Amino acid sequence: MGSIKPRDMTVNRRILEMEYAVRGPIPSRAAELKQQGRRIIPCNLGNPQALGQQPVSFYREVLSLVEHPIRIERERRLKTLFNGADLHGLERDDFHSDYVLELSENYLSQLETGMGAYSDSSGPRFIREAVAGFIDRRDGAVSGSVPRSDPEQIFITNGASEAVRYVIDLLIDDESDGVMIPIPQYPLYSAAIKRCGGTQVDYFLDEESGWAMDRNLLDSSLEGARKRGVTVKAMVVINPGNPTGAVLDEETVREVIAFAGDNDLAIIADEVYQENVYDADAGFVSFARVLGRGDVPLFSVHSTSKGFYGECGHRGGYLEIRNAPRIRNTDLSFTDLVLKQASVNICSNTVGQLMMYLLVNPPPENTAPYRRFTHERRKILEDLHDKAVMIRAGFDHMDGVSCFGRTGAMYLFPRLDGLPDGTDDFDYCMGLLDRTGLVTVNGAGFGQQPGTSHLRIAFLPPREVIEEVLPKWIEFHNAYVN
Ligand SMILES: Cc1ncc(COP(=O)(O)O)c(C=O)c1O
Repeated sequence: MGSIKPRDMTVNRRILEMEYAVRGPIPSRAAELKQQGRRIIPCNLGNPQALGQQPVSFYREVLSLVEHPIRIERERRLKTLFNGADLHGLERDDFHSDYVLELSENYLSQLETGMGAYSDSSGPRFIREAVAGFIDRRDGAVSGSVPRSDPEQIFITNGASEAVRYVIDLLIDDESDGVMIPIPQYPLYSAAIKRCGGTQVDYFLDEESGWAMDRNLLDSSLEGARKRGVTVKAMVVINPGNPTGAVLDEETVREVIAFAGDNDLAIIADEVYQENVYDADAGFVSFARVLGRGDVPLFSVHSTSKGFYGECGHRGGYLEIRNAPRIRNTDLSFTDLVLKQASVNICSNTVGQLMMYLLVNPPPENTAPYRRFTHERRKILEDLHDKAVMIRAGFDHMDGVSCFGRTGAMYLFPRLDGLPDGTDDFDYCMGLLDRTGLVTVNGAGFGQQPGTSHLRIAFLPPREVIEEVLPKWIEFHNAYVN
C-alpha cells in the first residue's frame, strides 16, 4: 500500500506570513544539533530557568501548598510534633514558616473555588486589587498627582503576550489601521500586527545615542505612515528595551506621552523588564506615573516571566488600562471589549494568577521568609549584571563589534560591522551555533537599520558556561570577519 498523500488546503495567509525569529530557523537548527548529541546553550530567549536559574523559594513554597492544600494542615501538625524538641536531624528551615502557611490559606479562602476551577475572566477581584496596590505603591499614587489604579481596569492574563494581543486585536480593524513599533523590537509586536491584518509602522531607535527615542524620528515615521493612508492608532514602547536594554528616563517618557497626546495615539507600554535595571543612576519610571492625570489612553503590561522571578513557564501577566477610549457609535468602552475577549478565553491559568499575586505581594520585612527572599532576589539580579559585564568585555576582543547603550533587560544587542561580503547576521548566527553551541538571534529578527547587522544574546547562562564559551566565540568571530 502506498503512503497516504495529505490533501492541500488554504489557510489564514496572515498566520502563514507571520514571523517570530526567537523561535525561528536558528533554534530549529539548534534542536537538530541537540538531537545529534551536541551541547546547546539556548540564549535565544529570555528564559532564565532554562539556563539553570533557580526559582525563588518563597514563590515555590506558596505555589506548592496552594496547589495541594491538604499539605497545609499536615505541615502544621508536623511542626507541632517537632516543636522545640529534638528535631531528629531536621532544621527549623525544613518546615514552611507560619507566614507561608497563613498566606497560602488566606489565598485559598479568598479564591473560594480552589485552583482547579475557572475564575472570573479578568482574574479574581482580590488579585486585581493586589495588582492595583502594587502599581500605586510603585508610582506613589498615594501622594495625589497620580490617580489610583482601578482594579476594574486590570486583567490578569496568560503572560504579557496575551495582554498585548488583546489590545492589538482590538485596535486593528483592517490594513488601513497601523501601530507604531520601535525598531529594533521584540517580534511579538510585528507578529501580532501581522496576524490581525494591520500595518506595522516602524520608528527607529538611535543606536549610537544608546538606543534613544528621538522626537524627529517619531514625527517622520508618523508623517510617512499618514501619507501612505494609514490611520495610526497607537505606539508601542518597550521599557526597558528588548532587544536593546535601553532604559528611558523620565524626560523621555514625558516627551513620548506628549507626542502621543499631540497625535491622538494610545500608548502600549511594555514594562515587563521593570526590575531588570542594573545601573544605580538609571531607575525605572513607569508610563502610568509620568502620565499622572493626563488623558492619553495607556495600556501597560507586566509579566511574571522576567525580573528576578523568571517564572516564564507559569504564564502570569497583567494588563492595566488608563483612560480607556469610548467605542464610537456604541455605549461601550475599550475595557468592555477586552473583557469580551477574556471571556471567550474563559480565564487565565490559575497558577499564573497566583504567581502574579506573589509578585505584587513580596514578603514584608518583619516576616520569616523576608531575609532569604531578599537575598535570593539580590543574588539573581547581581548575577545577571555580572554576566552581562563578562560578555560585554568579550566584545572588546572581537573585531568590528560595538555594543551601545546601558545594560538593561536580559539582552545584549551588539552591532557586527565588517561581515564578509555575501554573508549576513543570519549566516553569522548559524555559524556561531555550529561552532560553539550558542543559540542567538540575528538582528534581522528584530528589525534594524538597513545595511547594519546585529545579534541578540540573552545574558543568562551560568558564569562557568560563559567563561568556557566566550573564548570560542571570540575565536570564531575573528576568523569569520578576517
Ligand atoms: C518585551 C517583551 N514583552 C513581552 C514578552 C512576553 O512575556 P510573557 O512571557 O509574559 O508573555 C517578552 C518575552 O520575552 C518580552 O521580551
